[in-house]
Amino acid sequence: MKRVFSGVKPTGHLTLGNYLGAMRQWAAVDQHRADALFCVVDLHALTVHHDPARVRRLSRQTATLLLAAGLDPQLCTLFVQSHVDEHARLSYLLECVATDGEMRRMIQYKEKAARERERGGSVRLSLLTYPVLMAADILAYGTDEVPVGDDQAQHVELTRDLALRFNQRYGQTFVVPRATHPPVAARVMNLQEPTSKMGKSEDFGPGIVYLLDEPDVVRKKVMRAVTDSGREVVYDREGRPGVANLLEILAACTGGNPEELAVVYQSYGDLKKDTAEAVVEVLRPVQVRHQELCADPVYVEGVLREGAEKARAMARPVVDAAYRAIGLLPPV
Ligand code: TYM
Repeated sequence: MKRVFSGVKPTGHLTLGNYLGAMRQWAAVDQHRADALFCVVDLHALTVHHDPARVRRLSRQTATLLLAAGLDPQLCTLFVQSHVDEHARLSYLLECVATDGEMRRMIQYKEKAARERERGGSVRLSLLTYPVLMAADILAYGTDEVPVGDDQAQHVELTRDLALRFNQRYGQTFVVPRATHPPVAARVMNLQEPTSKMGKSEDFGPGIVYLLDEPDVVRKKVMRAVTDSGREVVYDREGRPGVANLLEILAACTGGNPEELAVVYQSYGDLKKDTAEAVVEVLRPVQVRHQELCADPVYVEGVLREGAEKARAMARPVVDAAYRAIGLLPPV
């Protein structure tokens, strides 16, 4: 059976982008076809300016929403990154394989470092080494596939490079993973700024649909989405990014295809109305289940405790093998 690993960073409220680009696929497909692990990557949330209480709160909320989205602890392993020491242990070894040039070339590093500087802050060293920790997350479990949105493709590519380099230098230790992406909505764009990703770490904005937004809020955000000056509904990601984004969201929510849907609509208004309703319907069951789970925090804690135990048992032998391979003396 294939091993699948993926993660979500608790840096903000989860968005429709997280759901359509990743979580929905994990619940509907990955946990059924593979030995799957899903992780709330809280250590990654410390790479930019953060509020400790907020990170704790968002970690709990993220885990709860992953369950609400359909992850089933009978089928997969759900846990919190900082509960399994192996991630940090392996990350250090991989820092001894990665180069600083490689890190500085990462698109997300460049964007996030620029944002931190703009805000007048300094850039944490952990932001630079972020992709190494992510590689450790993946490699510690002998992962074959990493289901993610498009924005994580470069990080998974780097993970592959590090695994290959380590294996070549120190002997076969890691499985070399590959990224998988959903067929549509691998990059959901901000409704107000359709050339930028709909990201949870951005400031609250009318262009971001959050998983816990009330139906009327969702409707308002979708109806106010920026479209283009044209009038015809055509699917053209470059030329008509706003309309293309709506078509992709609608396609992802209804199981359709954006090109085919473009032919069906005569006006932007109708497209927006149907997209809004489709999003409301997709989010409804997640919100209902989230409400139920919030009433049972002990259950969620139990899932995370068991998940961490299972994850630790899987990661330990892989990371121990890497320690030996790289030349560290086994403990006596
Ligand atoms: P994060 O927390 O930003 O996002 C979680 C998942 O949601 C996807 N995603 C999107 N997909 C489509 N459209 C969007 N607008 C959108 N926004 C987010 C992301 O691609 C991701 O799959 N670095 C990772 C977390 C991570 C990780 C890992 C992932 C840490 N270690 C190991 C996989 C394996 C991140 O920040 O994802």
